[in-house]
Amino acid sequence: MTTPTAFASVSALVRRETSMIYDEGKEYLVEARLAPLAAAKGLRLEEYVARLAFDAVERQKVIDALTINETSFFRDHTPYQAFTDAMLPPLLDARAHTRRLRIWSAACSSGQEAYSIAMLLDQHLPAGWDYEIVATDISTQMLERVRNGRFSQVEVNRGLPATSLVRYFTREGREWEISERLRSHITVRHLNLAAPYVGLGTFDVIWLRNVLIYFDAETKADIMRRMLPMLALDGFLLLGSSETTLDMPADLATAWRRETIGRVQAHRRAGAPTGGTLPTSTPLARTGA
Ligand SMILES: C[S@@+](CC[C@H](N)C(=O)[O-])C[C@H]1O[C@@H](n2cnc3c(N)ncnc32)[C@H](O)[C@@H]1O
Repeated sequence: MTTPTAFASVSALVRRETSMIYDEGKEYLVEARLAPLAAAKGLRLEEYVARLAFDAVERQKVIDALTINETSFFRDHTPYQAFTDAMLPPLLDARAHTRRLRIWSAACSSGQEAYSIAMLLDQHLPAGWDYEIVATDISTQMLERVRNGRFSQVEVNRGLPATSLVRYFTREGREWEISERLRSHITVRHLNLAAPYVGLGTFDVIWLRNVLIYFDAETKADIMRRMLPMLALDGFLLLGSSETTLDMPADLATAWRRETIGRVQAHRRAGAPTGGTLPTSTPLARTGA
């Protein structure tokens, strides 16, 4: 059993290094995930936790073990539909001179999001266009999985159309490996969303899905503030279906504008163009957010 002191110490470590909140009540989870790491070192849990103060390698293992990496190909479906139907057409017009798109899968987990986007771009970009998808996460284990581009039968059974499996994957033993053609467009980088974003450039679409839920309100606001210069003025930012900016401070309410695309709420910079194929647009400030 974790002692309250050991739990508090792990909770503080995770908060300091990832900004994720591990409140009281999650002791069982910490214990279940750290017990194998402690056992591998031949230590009791409390001894292992004490060791973390001076062992950076084990600290990264703890971060990897405590991140929630739930994901799937084409997760929630509707954002991908909105991406191809409503975001790509104006971006293709606006980028006709460079014929290049840059997408950020921020908090990419094992890469299903980044590879789903790559499949769509492979199918929808006109000939002669190029694209880069930057896939970032705080978990080094997950980033290794993105680089490997290998997925289990269970993973490809969840959300991936059979035609895409045939088109983009080859069977390697018990796993499915994504084609080099798609993999060559993915840049993998270790990045803590709660720390400065350096040398990433700007993006046409940012997928920031299902990660803000793990942070407190202040960290969420800070991340949304720092996302502004990362997004092209006419770009789109997507959050997870259960995530909202309704509780954001006033400066963000004017800096971001929510735009409804079918059943999806995209976020756009306040100065972004409106109209085109995008049905409705609501300034955050006017909704009282
Ligand atoms: C639930 S997954 C979401 C994956 C994908 N975006 C999706 O919607 O399917 C959350 C991811 O956020 C990552 N994460 C948690 N804290 C982070 C931080 N501070 N910086 C970057 N990534 C973080 C976790 O490692 C995990 O892979």
